Amino acid sequence: MTKKHVLGIDIGGSGIKGAPVDLQAGQFATDRERVDTPEDSTPEAVAELVAEVAKTFKGEVDSKAPVGVAVPAVVHHGVVRTAANIDPSWIGTDAEALFRTVLDRPVIVVNDADAAGAAEMHYGAGRGSDGVVLVTTLGTGIGTALFLGGELLPNTELGHVELDGHDAETRAANSAREREELSWEEWAERLQRYYGHLEDLFWPDLVIVGGGVSKKAEKYLPHLHLRAPIIPAELRNDAGIIGAAWLASHHR
Ligand code: BGC
Repeated sequence: MTKKHVLGIDIGGSGIKGAPVDLQAGQFATDRERVDTPEDSTPEAVAELVAEVAKTFKGEVDSKAPVGVAVPAVVHHGVVRTAANIDPSWIGTDAEALFRTVLDRPVIVVNDADAAGAAEMHYGAGRGSDGVVLVTTLGTGIGTALFLGGELLPNTELGHVELDGHDAETRAANSAREREELSWEEWAERLQRYYGHLEDLFWPDLVIVGGGVSKKAEKYLPHLHLRAPIIPAELRNDAGIIGAAWLASHHR
C-alpha cells in the first residue's frame, strides 16, 4: 500500500471514528476504526482516544500530511468556540494544539458539517456544482456548510437560526423527530419551514441533506417544496472523515 493516504477523524456524540482516506478516490483506503465517545467527553479524554484511533493506521498514512479532525462545534483558527451538543469544557480549547501534542503530527481541526459538506462537494452529491450550495446535516443537531463556486464559507452555524421562536435545531433536527415521535409528514412540515427560511435568506442553487437520516430521504424530501432542488447526500456516515482529511490537505 502507498503511504499517500491522509488520516481523517470524526468526533461525534456517540463515536470517535477514523480512517486513512484515499483523496484521489474520495473513499476510505482501509476499514475505519471506531471507539465509543466517553461519557465524560472532555477534550483530554477525547484526545486520548483520538490517539488510539490514529495508532491503528500508523503504517498506512502519509506521516508528514496533517491529520484532519472534525468536531461538532465552531472551530475558529483551531480553537473550539461553541459546545451546543458536546461537553462545555471544549469552549476555548485550542484543539489543534491539543491533538498535535497527542498525535505528534500537524493537525487541522474543522467543524463537522464543514467536513461533511466538503466531502459531498468534492466526491458526492455536490460534485461539479458551481453556484451557491447549502449542505446540511440532520442529526442530534443541525450542521450547515455553505459553498460558492466550491469554496467553503466556514462555521455558518445555520442550525441555530430562530424558527417559530425556537433554536431551529431543537425543532427540526432528526433528534427532535425522534424525541417528539413525529411522523415523517409532521417532520417534513418542520423541515419545510426550516429550509424555506434558509432559502429566503441565502437563495442557494442546490440544497444537500446529509446525516444518518439521509438514507431515508424518500420518506420526507418528496414533501418539501423549495425553489432549489433538495437532494440527499451520497457519502452519508463516511462524509465527516473524508471531508476532514480533504480540508486538512487543502488548508491554506
Ligand atoms: C453545532 C454545529 C454542528 C452541528 C452538527 C450544532 O449544534 O452548533 O457546530 O456542526 O450541531 O453536529
